[in-house]
Amino acid sequence: MSTAVPPRAPRDPDAANPHRNESGSDAYVRRVGRAFIIAFYGAVRAIKLYPIENAAVQKALDDLTAASRTILDSEKELEFRASGEYIFINATRLRLDIDNYTSFSHLLSLFRASGIGSLRVLDGVTPRNWIVLLSMLQAPGDESPEDRYFQLAGKLEAAKVTTFDFGPPTDSDGDRAQRQQVKAAAKQTYSQSVAATKDVINSVRLGRAPNVRKLKRVVQGIVDTILNDESSLMGLTTIRDYDEYTFTHSVNVCIFSVALGRRLGLGKLQLYDLGLAALFHDIGKARVPVDVINKSDALSEEEWRQITNHPWLGVLSLFRMRASQDLPYRSMIVAFEHHMKCDLSGYPKVIRPRALSMYSKIVAVADGFDAATTRRAYQHDPMSPAAVLQEMRDNPRRGMDQVVVKAFINLLGLYPVGTVVVLDTFELAIVHAPNPNPAVMSRPIIRVVSDPQGNILYPGTLFDLTEQSATGVFARTIIKTADPDRYGIKVGDYFV
Ligand SMILES: [Fe+2]
Ligand SMILES: [Fe+2]
Repeated sequence: MSTAVPPRAPRDPDAANPHRNESGSDAYVRRVGRAFIIAFYGAVRAIKLYPIENAAVQKALDDLTAASRTILDSEKELEFRASGEYIFINATRLRLDIDNYTSFSHLLSLFRASGIGSLRVLDGVTPRNWIVLLSMLQAPGDESPEDRYFQLAGKLEAAKVTTFDFGPPTDSDGDRAQRQQVKAAAKQTYSQSVAATKDVINSVRLGRAPNVRKLKRVVQGIVDTILNDESSLMGLTTIRDYDEYTFTHSVNVCIFSVALGRRLGLGKLQLYDLGLAALFHDIGKARVPVDVINKSDALSEEEWRQITNHPWLGVLSLFRMRASQDLPYRSMIVAFEHHMKCDLSGYPKVIRPRALSMYSKIVAVADGFDAATTRRAYQHDPMSPAAVLQEMRDNPRRGMDQVVVKAFINLLGLYPVGTVVVLDTFELAIVHAPNPNPAVMSRPIIRVVSDPQGNILYPGTLFDLTEQSATGVFARTIIKTADPDRYGIKVGDYFV
């Protein structure tokens, strides 16, 4: 095969030689690349678990050498490159899925710890070369990744191993700047959304016609941001501003609803409608006296009646707006139904049986979650996000649609981003991102924010809870969720 290497591109699907499409194509590189990664990870594990003379180690090294040669023979080059959360073999990005998640993330963290961005494997690589490299990669050390990088190069030279070339991480400047940009844009979208929502709610309060067009643009911004990068805006929903509750609540419910709608398969235009409905769901509260809304003591019967009127008042406000501006009916339905509950045991009471609209079910889940996890005048002890999700799933009295709740748990992870947790090491951590593998939802990516004595660390360090020691024991495990205030942790500070 080594002599008949076809040109890389363009591919000709009708070529007479059946192998012509095989090597060099993206699909081919992905397939052999995957085999290489699996062999690489297998060898890393074997060296960690057994002495070098062990047959399992020898077999793993032979497999790795064979997998490298396959690629070198057909592609004439083999470059492994780590970029952010991705692995590239030559120029092809490998697809991450559940089967290869562990090997991917392990290799990525191994490379990151050694300050290596790319590894080029050269012709003539042998099992001995591999074992020298792998043992060096795994040798524990306290040095910074940059220092390790230079040490490795020196050690390989000393061991006369010349079949590897390293490169530093390429994602350092460009990618970091880009990530920073995405974050800044998300923040801007968020604060613009809060400001526009504030405008609209205040206009309704004063009996003026609000500027719906501006709000529509806000929703488009939120939908576009979520379609682009789901996590950037979701992280911001953890900034729960006590004074601005009414406005941030509407924006948070909008963000959660759009992300949820997307998971449930809604298209872009439907997401615009859903987002607008979510942003407007509590608009009726603008017509309930502020002191009733913010009252911290128990409500009188009359006050409770006023609060439970907000779905109706919302419909009326939206009708008035509709007279002058084009507003979808769905917003009215959602304003009307969002407290009704699936079994119709909520409010307003309806006489005839009805099925809630899908949009109302989505907004009800998003609303219930944001409301229960936020501190407000009448709610001193918000529940932990994880506890709220469990309630919504297990307590039928919450009246949530179970399909939507399931999708929401999938979206947020069992421990939603921003949850403060106590680990079995007695450290505190903040959940940073859900685990991409749904099978290990209880092991998200976390940021360790205190030492075992409870001293708060900033900015803390990221850690993948699926990481195990050589004996297969998890290095850290969540024991329970915790109240950030008890420990003086401001969760929002860790997401800026
Ligand atoms: Fe409401
Ligand atoms: Fe609400």
